[in-house]
Amino acid sequence: MKKQWWVLSLVLLICLGCAAFLLKQHFRNENMVYDDEQQGLKKQIVIYFSHVVAENTPKGLAAQKFADLVEKKTNGRVKVEVFSNGSLYSDGEEMDALLRGDVQMIAPTFSKVTELIPEWQVLDLPYLFQDYHDVERTFTGSVGKQLLAMLDSKGIKGLALWSNGFKQMTSTTRLLVRPDDFRGLRFRIMPSEVIEEQFRLLGGEPIVVSFDHVYRSLEKHEFDGQENTISNIYSKGFYKFQPYITISNHGYLGYAVMMNKSFWESLPRDIQQKITEAIQETTMWNLQQSKNQNEQELEEIKQNENIHIYELSEEEKKRWEQKFAPLYDQFAKEFGDKLLREIKQR
Ligand code: LMR
Repeated sequence: MKKQWWVLSLVLLICLGCAAFLLKQHFRNENMVYDDEQQGLKKQIVIYFSHVVAENTPKGLAAQKFADLVEKKTNGRVKVEVFSNGSLYSDGEEMDALLRGDVQMIAPTFSKVTELIPEWQVLDLPYLFQDYHDVERTFTGSVGKQLLAMLDSKGIKGLALWSNGFKQMTSTTRLLVRPDDFRGLRFRIMPSEVIEEQFRLLGGEPIVVSFDHVYRSLEKHEFDGQENTISNIYSKGFYKFQPYITISNHGYLGYAVMMNKSFWESLPRDIQQKITEAIQETTMWNLQQSKNQNEQELEEIKQNENIHIYELSEEEKKRWEQKFAPLYDQFAKEFGDKLLREIKQR
């Protein structure tokens, strides 16, 4: 009888133990937090987009708008992380970083693409565009497509051409109005044969300086003048050292928006489609926004009483154009005049 009692108690205990274990499991499952965000991250595609200018510039703002559009259009499946001010790579380093796949997107100026594809020098030719209408037609039309397609053989997917604005001349010591005013002065330039030759034709001495060193070089008086858009002159405070600004609109500064080609090809079709839509929307927005921004920031600079601003007359521009004529002959001799004719077809 005593033995039976013991067996019964043991069975009861085991049953109680099992019930307690099952109940515990039940409550544990009920309270378990499924981290949807963490699950999503496994599937999330991250694009690093590196550039060298400030956030509040035409390129900086376009990069952020593109990032927002991509995230919205893909319901968060793609995240574009924008790194501004050369915080990841300087302009001399970013192309290699893209080709290595260390970043997935960059948007260097046209000048910085000329080292890779010399035909891109066409966009550096002075007085190529008469107005913003010319710019838009070239960037979004057949010429833009042909130039972007040339990137393909270099392992780059060319996505779009973005705009900053017309370039102006600045100087530390005097207004640059007549071609002779350039004689003997040192000019900071971006790496581009056409731009180098442009300053030589004016009698100046071109010096290549990467964008992140321009401010420091100005402080150390390493050059006397430079060309840039009002937006870059304003956002980086170059006008504080170079108070003489000539509104010459002699050249155009725009950007080649690029993606690492292997990365692009690894993306699912639907994602490629969403990225293309986001790029097209951003490009149209950027064309208008960059124009407005340069106009507004010129007004801001004008508020400063130490700044001297001079706008070239049509006749003065003609004299500059005459000086620059050999650049066109040289380009046509090296690369033919097909692209030039298409751009000039108004
Ligand atoms: C410059 O070097 O002046 C520009 O390329 C900077 C930029 O990206 O707008």
